[in-house]
Formats: sequence, C-alpha cells, structure tokens
Amino acid sequence: MQAVILSAGEGTRMRPLTYTRPKVMIEVANKPILAHLIEELKKVGVDEVILVVGYYQEKVREYFGKTWNGVRLKYSTQTKQLGTADALRSAEHYIEDDFLMLNGDTIVDAEDLKRIIENEMTIGVNTVDDPENYGVVVVKDGFVEEIIEKPEKPVANTINAGIYHFTRDIFDYIRITPKSVRGEYEITDTINLAIKDGVRFSTAKISGWIDASYPWDLLKINELMLSNIDTEIDGVVEKNVTIKGNVVIGEGSIIKAGTYIEGPVVIGKNCEIGPNCYIRAHTSIGNGCKIGAAVEVKNSIVMNGTKIPHHNYIGDSVIGENCNFGAGTKVANLKLDEKEIEVYTKDKRIKTGRKKLGAIIGDNVKTGINASINAGAMIGNNCFIAPNAYVDGWIDPYTRVF
Ligand code: UD1
Ligand code: MG
Repeated sequence: MQAVILSAGEGTRMRPLTYTRPKVMIEVANKPILAHLIEELKKVGVDEVILVVGYYQEKVREYFGKTWNGVRLKYSTQTKQLGTADALRSAEHYIEDDFLMLNGDTIVDAEDLKRIIENEMTIGVNTVDDPENYGVVVVKDGFVEEIIEKPEKPVANTINAGIYHFTRDIFDYIRITPKSVRGEYEITDTINLAIKDGVRFSTAKISGWIDASYPWDLLKINELMLSNIDTEIDGVVEKNVTIKGNVVIGEGSIIKAGTYIEGPVVIGKNCEIGPNCYIRAHTSIGNGCKIGAAVEVKNSIVMNGTKIPHHNYIGDSVIGENCNFGAGTKVANLKLDEKEIEVYTKDKRIKTGRKKLGAIIGDNVKTGINASINAGAMIGNNCFIAPNAYVDGWIDPYTRVF
C-alpha cells in the first residue's frame, strides 16, 4: 500500500527549532518525527511512502534517501505551501490505487492506522479541549456530514486528526477546490465538496495521537517514544556506573564512572557522558554530545553535537544541535509560585499548560559561565549569551545577550 505524508511546511509555531529544519525533521528519541511515522506505516503494510517536501527539503531527502528501513521513498516538491489539498495534488502522479494520507506533524501508532485502513474514504478523528485550532468533524448517522476548519465557535470537540484513507477519486475534488478564507487550498474543503456530491466518509477514532504544534509538545512525544524502548548498550560503560530502567547507548559512546542514569533514556553514538553526572528519565541525547561532571539533565531533548560539560542543570527543555554551555549555565524549569508557565514567542504570549518547562533553544547557541536561563525562555539559533547573563522570554536568532 502507498502512503503520502505532507511535510512541506515549516511549522512556524515550532520556532526557533524550525529556523534550521522543517518541523518533521526535529528529532525526538533520536529520530525525526517523520521517521517514527514511517516506522508505524511499515508495520501496517505500507511499502511505498511519497513525501511531499518543500521547506528545507534537502534535509528530508538526505536523511531518508530512496529507501529507508525497508520502505521505498518518493519525493514530490511543493514549491509554494498553498495548502494541504495542493500538497496532495503534487503527489497525484505517483498514486496507483487507494492510499493513506498523513499530516507530517502528527504521531500515530500502527493500531490506529489499521482501523483507518479497514474502510476506504475514512478520516481519523480525535477529541480535544481546543477544537477551534483544528478541523471540527460533524458526524451524522455514522458518516461525516461536514468538516468546519478552525471555527470560532466549535459545535463539537471531535476533530480531524490529519490521517486519511482515500481513493483516487479525491483528486477529482481537489481540482475543483477553491481557495479558503485563509488563502489556501485545504483538504478539508475538498472533503466537504465530495460529501456534497454524495461521497460518504466514515470516521475512525485515533487514540495514540499527538499533534506536534509547539516545542513543548515534543517533550510529550519524547516521553511516549521512550516508554517503548528496550535496553541496548553498544557503547562502553565504565565501572561504578549505575543504570536503572531501559537505556539505549549508541556505538562509540562512553559512560564514565560515577554516572547515574535513570531510564528510559536514549544516548546516541559517539557521546562522552560523565564522569559523575546524573541523567534522569525521559531524556534523549543525540549523537556526538558531551554531558560532563556535575551535570544533571532531566526530561529533555538534547540534539546532536551539543555539549553540556560542566556544572549545568537542564530540565524539561529542548536544546538544538551544536550548542555549547559554559560552566555553571543553568536552566530553570519551575516558577517560584509554581504556576503554569507562559512563553513569549516573537509576537504573542502562549499558555503552555505545563508547570514544568525549561528552555527551548535553537542550534549553535553558546552560553558563557554562570548564565541563567529562566523557565519558558525561547532562544533563537546562533545566539551568544554572555557570562552571568540572565535570559528570559523570546530571543531572536543571532542575538548577543549581555
Ligand atoms: C490540519 C487540518 C485540520 C486538522 C489538523 C490536524 C487542513 C486544512 N487542516 O490543520 O483539519 O485538524 O491538521 O493536525 O488540512 N503542509 C504541506 N503543504 C502545505 C500546507 C501544509 O506540506 O501547503 C503540511 C504541513 O507541513 C503539515 C501538514 O501538512 O505537516 C498539516 O498542515 P498544518 O498547516 O499543520 O495544518 P493544521 O493547521 O494543523
Ligand atoms: Mg498542524
């Protein structure tokens, strides 16, 4: 069976992480979000995936190539992100028969996919607390009556999960889909047109679904992914290292004496960990990282090539690639009043729904000794944070903070 994954967009709500990669290439549990999706598709018998790419497409093409994990990959370039219906249209020439279509920014497991495959013309649905941010699906007598995209006043909390089983007929309706009020050709409008023409769409409830919109959603996904790992130790573990729970340690990595690891934790290839550091549950450390003496890392994603070498604390954070933390740089992850953490993006303030959140840091950020980073700080790529600086709120890429 074939599947199309829409992955041409940037994912602006994921900034600063998407300034240097598309959202689907953000690594969670040491694999891009897209890789997790392809793995689940393979489990249900998908042998060919068509990736619709655009923003930073070379990163997707380089990582996955022509086959990945036994799945054949084809690429279709969407030069302008004109909407989800337009993205699917760009893949039409590859499609032979009925197929799955998935938004690239969702996490779904094989069990859910099986239920979508059962019937043709099926839409995966879920229930959420904030239906206004999605397509609300109105179901009548077991079939979809209408999808109302991002309604101001939602009539229900059943929403479109962005996972579909279509037949080739969908392309006939894409051709006649007009631009939406948001200026895009939207697959939800296409579906409404088909319904008006008498096509019946059933729904399948998706349970293991997470929508990756904001950087802190990545922590949730990371936790879920790590809960499924088995222990696999390919690196070297010195004497007097304590390992509890399930832990993956990649080839060429060394865990030095006195290190205490509480799984589930994944550590990539060629890392230097310890001596005497503390790595707590639900932490993913990429390839070529260094976590040095008297460093504590908890419930965080640390991407490839990042060095956190001396006397640092990092909790509930997402740290990009090739960062370097000066001795004593620490990240706060809880407000003193223990209230919900709000973050400032470039233009607005957003409630995160989390009491514990550290920092979201883009690639190539360097901090000086004893820099203090407040809970909810968002630091753009290539920033310099001076020794002793205090960082809070949104920092644009390439800023020098004193
Ligand atoms: C979409 C659905 C919404 C659903 C939600 C679930 C539409 C119009 N809306 O909204 O009903 O509830 O997903 O998460 O489909 N993309 C492209 N090219 C484009 C536009 C998007 O490849 O021109 C890709 C994006 O990279 C992303 C996916 O399609 O992976 C979904 O696009 P996104 O903008 O996130 O749609 P939502 O607003 O989340
Ligand atoms: Mg989305």
